[in-house]
Amino acid sequence: MKAWQIAAHGSPADLRFAEVPTPEPAANEVLVRVRAVSLNYRDLIALAAPRPGNLPPPLVPCSDGAGEIVAVGTGVTRWKVGDRVAGIFFRDWIDGPFDLKYHGAAGGGSVHGWLRESVAWPEHGLVAVPAAWSFEEAATLPCAAVTAWQALFTRGALRRGATVLVLGTGGVSIFALQLATAAGARIIVTSSSDEKLARARTLGAWATVNYRTTPDWDKEVWRLTEKRGVDHVVEVGGPGTLGRSMNTVAAGGQIALIGVLTGFDAPDASLFPLLARNARLDGIYVGSRAHFESLNAFLTQRQIRPIIDRTFVFDDAPAAFAHLQSAAHFGKIVISLP
Ligand SMILES: NC(=O)c1ccc[n+]([C@@H]2O[C@H](COP(=O)([O-])OP(=O)(O)OC[C@H]3O[C@@H](n4cnc5c(N)ncnc54)[C@H](OP(=O)(O)O)[C@@H]3O)[C@@H](O)[C@H]2O)c1
Repeated sequence: MKAWQIAAHGSPADLRFAEVPTPEPAANEVLVRVRAVSLNYRDLIALAAPRPGNLPPPLVPCSDGAGEIVAVGTGVTRWKVGDRVAGIFFRDWIDGPFDLKYHGAAGGGSVHGWLRESVAWPEHGLVAVPAAWSFEEAATLPCAAVTAWQALFTRGALRRGATVLVLGTGGVSIFALQLATAAGARIIVTSSSDEKLARARTLGAWATVNYRTTPDWDKEVWRLTEKRGVDHVVEVGGPGTLGRSMNTVAAGGQIALIGVLTGFDAPDASLFPLLARNARLDGIYVGSRAHFESLNAFLTQRQIRPIIDRTFVFDDAPAAFAHLQSAAHFGKIVISLP
């Protein structure tokens, strides 16, 4: 079968289309014929350089895949041939609190990922894909949507009428916008692009700020909220945005610390605003299978469909990575397999 591999660390040109043996499902595993994969910023990080805990090249990238079960190993009870499934990000985090051991099995990082024609995967590491969803839609969910769900709903206990600040218009942020809008929150979205901000408003954003033309976007958020601040910040920027995010948070609010779009360095901002506001900083790392299942129930009940920016064919995976790298997208980028 065919698999894309990170052959060397570098750019999308360092992805290699390889012929590899089709895996056999071991006991308690199923074989999934992969039908769609989605990309996350994390896949660019894994491609660019070695990361602690990641397998060395050649590594099959991508945490997010969906497909159909074509074979089951001995002892499998949850699934049968023909079932439509999506993989979970931390393959062994089923429910309950996080444990550091779960880092040992994250697709496209510490274990091989989903950008291949077939995946043998433990039966516990999958969720059912509702019949109404395409494989492409299902493949958008395991990382970005589960992260937005855990951040705002599980940890954030988002309430109707709460105010949420969402940074940028990538995968996590657009899911946060859709989910929080459906829950009756008031969302402020930032972006470098006025066109993307106009699109965010059509999805329900209450207010928008262009962080390029308004570099003091924290002051604008403060003004928009009449000096109250926001109850939740979906912080995907990291060290380069955290200081301003802290300036936007309301008394008793939550900053969901999710991303590293501005890098892995230490923030140079004072943490004092958190104390002064009795606010909290929640580190968020995707979520469990139970989080994914709650998310799916919510998406089904509210009839929310993922926003897919563009779908690439399997052979064009490097172009899909290059599109993600360009940051021209809005929402999710998908690779579809025959
Ligand atoms: N902790 C976790 O569990 C977890 C899970 C998923 C993702 N992440 C992290 O969260 C971040 C977002 O991931 P993703 O997959 O959603 O990324 P993505 O789809 O690649 O999002 C890219 C978008 O982020 C926006 N952006 C870039 N730099 C920005 C800045 N300085 N300020 C505000 N917005 C900025 C841009 O939006 P505009 O074009 O609109 O300006 C850009 O298009 C990444 O760092 C990723 O590693 C963490």
